[in-house]
Amino acid sequence: MKVLMVCLGNICRSPLADGLLRKKVSENQLNMEVDSAGTSGHHKGELPDARMMKTASEFGVDLSFLRSRPIVKSDLDYFDVIYTMDRENYWNVYDLCETEEQRKKVVPILDLIYPEENKSVPDPYYGGKQGFVDVYEMLDKATDVIVNNYLKENGKR
Ligand code: 4NP
Repeated sequence: MKVLMVCLGNICRSPLADGLLRKKVSENQLNMEVDSAGTSGHHKGELPDARMMKTASEFGVDLSFLRSRPIVKSDLDYFDVIYTMDRENYWNVYDLCETEEQRKKVVPILDLIYPEENKSVPDPYYGGKQGFVDVYEMLDKATDVIVNNYLKENGKR
């Protein structure tokens, strides 16, 4: 199972979703590959935002090995599921898709907690500290659902 997390800049929300899920994959010894990307290449090669790294590290999640990259068309075939952080990311990825099989892979990540509401993880970039903590809490819950679904589907729970 290969999972791609996508936001706009790939420096705040999707790196956190990526780092959180990688940590849980490792703790649960799951056969899952995790990566993240941005719909914009604006921050290509950069570390995650320092405020996001700090909040994550306060919760025990390391993001310092991640570097921003833009999503590329081959991601749409390579990954099995592509979780988008907000509505704009969802439609940008959806518009990149060329086949129905690819379109089916694109899922708003908060659908895992609030099914079919197409809720967005708010962009914390221009806000304060609490915004980063709020994003952490949402993505912690969403990545728990990914792990629990995986364990159920693979008969481990
Ligand atoms: P992200 O946050 O999409 O969660 O990585 C943003 C990062 C950078 C910008 C916007 C959002 N920006 O405008 O540079």
